Amino acid sequence: MARDILKTLKEEHATLRSLFDQMKETTDRAKKGRADLLETIEQNLLPHAKWEEQVFYPAFKERCDRDGLQTLAEAIAEHHAVEHSVIPEVHAADVETPEFAGRVKVFGEFIDHHAKEEEKTMFKMVRELFSADELAQMDEDYETWKASDAAANLVFAEQAKAGLKGAVKSLIQ
Ligand SMILES: [Fe+2]
Ligand SMILES: [Fe+2]
Repeated sequence: MARDILKTLKEEHATLRSLFDQMKETTDRAKKGRADLLETIEQNLLPHAKWEEQVFYPAFKERCDRDGLQTLAEAIAEHHAVEHSVIPEVHAADVETPEFAGRVKVFGEFIDHHAKEEEKTMFKMVRELFSADELAQMDEDYETWKASDAAANLVFAEQAKAGLKGAVKSLIQ
């Protein structure tokens, strides 16, 4: 089957959902399990989100109509809320606490909602606006970028930022 960026992004959404499901199964005593899962979630989410912001959303913006622009604004606002509020609050909680369990649940709910919206609305518009060849090319470009040093550095920098913001939030709580 031909490559397809929309299929890849949907598969990544599914992977994230299953990681959040695994997180729900953990108890407050599962310190290492929770920390490892959070790390895995971020390693999956950050390249996906950053590539959407830097490549996929701008490509959509160039071709979409007014409804598309509104959908795009909604998606970007959700990315910002997750990056600047939801993730730092998760990092500000100790993994062995009910606070962590509650905040990470909200994190999962945000991602699930956002992924559903993308799939139901934006991806459908993209399917109309881009040719199969273009979607295949984007998929190839995404895979190349994910394997690059630039992507690894970006994920590292984002994780450091989330940890730092989390530390500040826990100080002022
Ligand atoms: Fe997104
Ligand atoms: Fe997405």
